[in-house]
Amino acid sequence: MILTRLMSLTGLLIIGAIFIAACGAADDAEVVATPVFEPTAAPTGNAPAATAVPADSVAPTAAPTEAPAAVVGDAVNGETLFSGTSGCAGCHSTSDATVIGPGLAGIGTIAETRVAGESADEYLTAAIIAPNDFLVPDFPGIMPGNFGQSLSEQEVADLVAYLISLP
Ligand code: HEC
Repeated sequence: MILTRLMSLTGLLIIGAIFIAACGAADDAEVVATPVFEPTAAPTGNAPAATAVPADSVAPTAAPTEAPAAVVGDAVNGETLFSGTSGCAGCHSTSDATVIGPGLAGIGTIAETRVAGESADEYLTAAIIAPNDFLVPDFPGIMPGNFGQSLSEQEVADLVAYLISLP
């Protein structure tokens, strides 16, 4: 009887030891698992989303600035074109003196009187890109007719702004 009790007691101890070991192992496993935190995944996920919003807000501002910029003439650049590669100064002075074409002193005011219904801006643009549409009295139609092709719309506007500024 004593032997049987000892054996069953030993058996209980062994089973108990196994349970304790198993529980201990299970506890250890949980303790090791908890340090793996998820918070690091969340910030990196949010960061790209935050930078994407400013990129979108830049696009709308680009559209409105393009439209007004195209037509405004720059008189300073117009003077550079007139005296430089466009060759206007080879035929035109900016005084009253005739070279080959008429002198262009006061042309901003004169231009308003050249063609009925045309503003100075419209007449001067036409005088540059289609010079034979209207010939200045007593001058031959020898002004080159290809400035509408060799000059950009902006460059023509720059030349017109310069001509209107001439005293
Ligand atoms: C080969 C010589 C020649 C060149 C180069 C030339 N023109 Fe002329 N231009 C003339 C002649 C000639 C006239 C007058 C006949 C006419 O109306 O086309 C004239 C007329 C004009 C008129 C009208 C003037 C007025 O009193 O109504 C303007 C403005 C003008 N030119 C601007 C220019 C500009 C700007 C350039 C350069 C992009 C240029 N011209 C290049 C010969 C030239």
